Amino acid sequence: MSTRTFVVKGARPLGADPADLVLEDGAITEVGTGLSRSGAEVVDAGGLVALPGLVDLHTHLREPGREDAETVQTGTAAAAMGGFSAVHAMANTDPVADTAGVVEQVWRLGREAGHCDVHPVGAVTVGLAGRALAELGAMAESAARVRVFSDDGNCVSDAVLMRRALEYVKAFGGVVAQHAQEPRLTVDAQMNEGELSGVLGLAGWPAVAEEAVIARDVLLAAHVGSRLHVCHVSSAGSVEILRWAKSKGWNVTAEVTPHHLLLTDELATSYDPVFKVNPPLRTAEDVAALREALADGTIDAVATDHAPHSHEDKDCEWAAAAFGMLGLETALSVVQEAMVETGLLDWAGVADRMSVRPARIGLVEDQGRPLQAGSPANLVLVDPAARRRIDPFALTSRSRNTPYAGRELPGAVVATFLRGRPTVLDGKLV
Ligand code: DOR
Repeated sequence: MSTRTFVVKGARPLGADPADLVLEDGAITEVGTGLSRSGAEVVDAGGLVALPGLVDLHTHLREPGREDAETVQTGTAAAAMGGFSAVHAMANTDPVADTAGVVEQVWRLGREAGHCDVHPVGAVTVGLAGRALAELGAMAESAARVRVFSDDGNCVSDAVLMRRALEYVKAFGGVVAQHAQEPRLTVDAQMNEGELSGVLGLAGWPAVAEEAVIARDVLLAAHVGSRLHVCHVSSAGSVEILRWAKSKGWNVTAEVTPHHLLLTDELATSYDPVFKVNPPLRTAEDVAALREALADGTIDAVATDHAPHSHEDKDCEWAAAAFGMLGLETALSVVQEAMVETGLLDWAGVADRMSVRPARIGLVEDQGRPLQAGSPANLVLVDPAARRRIDPFALTSRSRNTPYAGRELPGAVVATFLRGRPTVLDGKLV
């Protein structure tokens, strides 16, 4: 908690009329016009949109094990630069976050770094190997208080294990976040299966491999009466299944990545592995369906799937390259371009999909709260009129694998506050 007092002058909360916000003792204490406090630091926020601090349900921080690609320190600094006040750290580290010891280590490193809150995700199965359930209860009871469990990177493809995991997390209101990928349908898969994969001679990753697992899992979640979250939904068919499951009233949520909202499989024609990601970039029709689903709430949240990779793992031929792309520092800009500038979401909608709903899904109580007196002072100030050209070498992440290099994107994060303390001010890390 911060002991400093800030008066944020003239920001537009959720894009509405300008207002001043007073941040003191870690909380928002007053919202109105003409506000002041003696001795307060004043932030001129004229023209800036204020949103609740963003919450990412899907970040790869790579520590422990691949500190050459990212650390908790560098990854959370990148998160703050992107407007995030909390991230969920995926479990596919080395060692895997499948015990109370590892999740506590990641949680503690997050606290020490101080750039944003880190909520470790626990592995569903030991070593992400898909053979035996990990110690879900011990991780839930640890200091890290894990509530989200995922083998992300791998699919929990065994239906019995998936059922057991859903049953287990029900006891403490947890959620299983599934990386939906039928493994037998995606052996050696390299890109979206379609005409283009044939032309390029790259093994295809068919959308049905995602859709089949989502269909099975929504049925399992309904059968067990438990809570399922679907990671990085990428196809129009997946959207249809989710829409059906939600119409039944089942407890199912889903996320989409910024890159699946903006980029298509056409980019694979460059053979540049910066565009290699799992699930793969799909067609323009899929992108349109994902945007529509995010707008109508069928997809609940945007989650970055920030996947930093070292130069050695990415700058090689397509087939040998690792899957994944950076996301934290460009997420809000991509959502502005894909959703706000197309008229599909307003800023209140962005706050809902990037903060309120992800906090609810991850059971993070002090995030995603309304910008009003009494809420914790977690917020981001965005300049929607700014435009910036993405320079991979100017990013805060330790890795460089952004798919937006050289591209101009709208919007810029000017400041991020975590419980009243600025983590980013004037667009710079504090
Ligand atoms: O592209 C991806 N990268 N997808 C995943 O599911 C895992 C991630 C990673 O860990 O690099």
